[in-house]
Amino acid sequence: MCGLVGYTGDKNATNIILNSLKRLEYRGYDSSGIALNINNEIKVTKSEGHLNNLEQKIDNSLLSNAGIGHTRWATHGTANETNAHPHTSTNNEVAVVHNGIIENFNALKSKFSPKLFKSSTDTEVVAIMLGNEITTKSNEKHILECLGKVCQQLKGSFAFAIMVAHFPNKIFFAKKKSPLIIGCGENQNFVASDVLAVLPYTNKIVYLKDSQMGVISSSEVKVFDFNLNQKSFIIKQVDLNLQQAMLNGYSTFMEKEIAQGSFAMINTLTKLKKEKILFKLPKNKIANFCQTYPNIHIVACGTALHAGMVARYLIERDCKMQVSLDFASEFRYKKPILNKKSLCLFISQSGETADTLASLEMAKKQGAFCVAITNVLGSRISQIADFVIPTFAGPEIAVASTKAYVAQLTALYAFIQLLAKINMQKIRYTQEDILSLAQKLEKWTTQTEWQPIIQSLASQQSLFFVGRGLDYFLALEGALKLKEISYIHCEAFAGGELKHGSLALITKNSYVIVILTQKDLIDKTLNAVYEIKSRGAKIVLVTQFENLKNQADFVILLKKAKDVLMPFVAIKPLQELALLCAKQKNVNPDKPRNLAKSVTVE
Ligand code: M6R
Repeated sequence: MCGLVGYTGDKNATNIILNSLKRLEYRGYDSSGIALNINNEIKVTKSEGHLNNLEQKIDNSLLSNAGIGHTRWATHGTANETNAHPHTSTNNEVAVVHNGIIENFNALKSKFSPKLFKSSTDTEVVAIMLGNEITTKSNEKHILECLGKVCQQLKGSFAFAIMVAHFPNKIFFAKKKSPLIIGCGENQNFVASDVLAVLPYTNKIVYLKDSQMGVISSSEVKVFDFNLNQKSFIIKQVDLNLQQAMLNGYSTFMEKEIAQGSFAMINTLTKLKKEKILFKLPKNKIANFCQTYPNIHIVACGTALHAGMVARYLIERDCKMQVSLDFASEFRYKKPILNKKSLCLFISQSGETADTLASLEMAKKQGAFCVAITNVLGSRISQIADFVIPTFAGPEIAVASTKAYVAQLTALYAFIQLLAKINMQKIRYTQEDILSLAQKLEKWTTQTEWQPIIQSLASQQSLFFVGRGLDYFLALEGALKLKEISYIHCEAFAGGELKHGSLALITKNSYVIVILTQKDLIDKTLNAVYEIKSRGAKIVLVTQFENLKNQADFVILLKKAKDVLMPFVAIKPLQELALLCAKQKNVNPDKPRNLAKSVTVE
């Protein structure tokens, strides 16, 4: 939520900041702004809406070698120009961009005259406080002392990039809970919300820790804690390239990322094997969880939770181990019973999701062994977990998660194999099965005649998804994907639950997408199909069983695979369905309204 960048170096800051903000726009895109230092004065330009509005507004004759920029996802105050960042202090000596939430902003604001505040944000008070603290204009140490003092008064989460008018070539920064990295370049340095922002300029990255602050100039990076004790840091070389973060001929990132699904599977499995990652798991510890006290908890949000549902089902069915599964936003407040015998599995593409992170921190405090499955190495979740199983899907930029889902499934299936082995149970697939399926899927294009399906579905107010067992989790994921980028109300039901209430919603005008990939559930799912059909509704059947074709009004025929692997197969057409409906409705699937890619606030 919100992307920020700070630049200082030997180049024109405006171009570099705008460029970096473009790569951060997936974090929020309702307004944006930039502050430059022009002859020891801070000049701010802000704009409502997407970044190109800001681009058009900027005065290109303003040349500066340092600046800060922000692309916003509104939390406090509507998305307008006044609330857009940067926010400045009363005397315009300080400009601040912020990602996170200052939870005690009202209490802090009450110490100042209300007349000082122009915006309704939680951030402005930080600029005012800092401006108020700074008494000497020429002493860097004093600025850092003031920053540390302000940070210690803040509750909540924050990553800041800050300009101070009398330090034209320096960017100050501070961080607690929200992500912030430093990019170390040649004659230039950056602070940013994530690596993608700085990738064209450097791949040398410092992942800042919580409660750290500091200052960068074009040639120097200094990191401190909030009490001004200097801290050492490690510069890591990240293995990402710019091409991975570009459209490369695709019209949207979602389209590109759906197409990369099989690559994400193959890359994840191959690297997990090559680097023997799962072998490094402390097996004795895992065996302990399995044998003495089956106590596994899966925690995640959104699509990652849907991948977790597949895992829970398979661990219980095939590994004969008990698993609980929770939304991270519920888990962190439900006071779960955790101890050193608990194994907690946190799944997060970004490795930043605030609720997943908070749940992980809580589980660690209670002594649980915490495994994280994440696509972003270096992310906060990857730093805190006891063990990381990385997915290697490459950067996922579209808000709707697609290739990350199949990469998460791949990592989970490998992990489940290990659990089965430890618990001496037989599993229904091999890693070779997954690999060869991924290779087949790479070449496979659905024969579906999309046009009539999309024509019918995209104009609906409401759509329903139905499935049983593994197909129910696919139904949930299909519905989430479609609703978030097409704005059609979508609900998923477990097939057997229909008659317990939801059937009341089905009329002759309804369309129901039924997912049927599991042989042993054919009869049961067909019962649901008949129930729906007898209410006059239309059926879109997503199935690998060609003989069921005539049961439906429309059929999306899937490639055949082992039942247990069908989630990998069925998800692609469901993602495509969402994409095509969004296109039909003229919605940009990469930037759906009200959403952002990384949910770094509660
Ligand atoms: O980065 P994470 O995997 O932790 O994100 C979790 C959810 O916010 C994410 O999957 C979200 O539901 C997607 N927009 C779904 O497409």
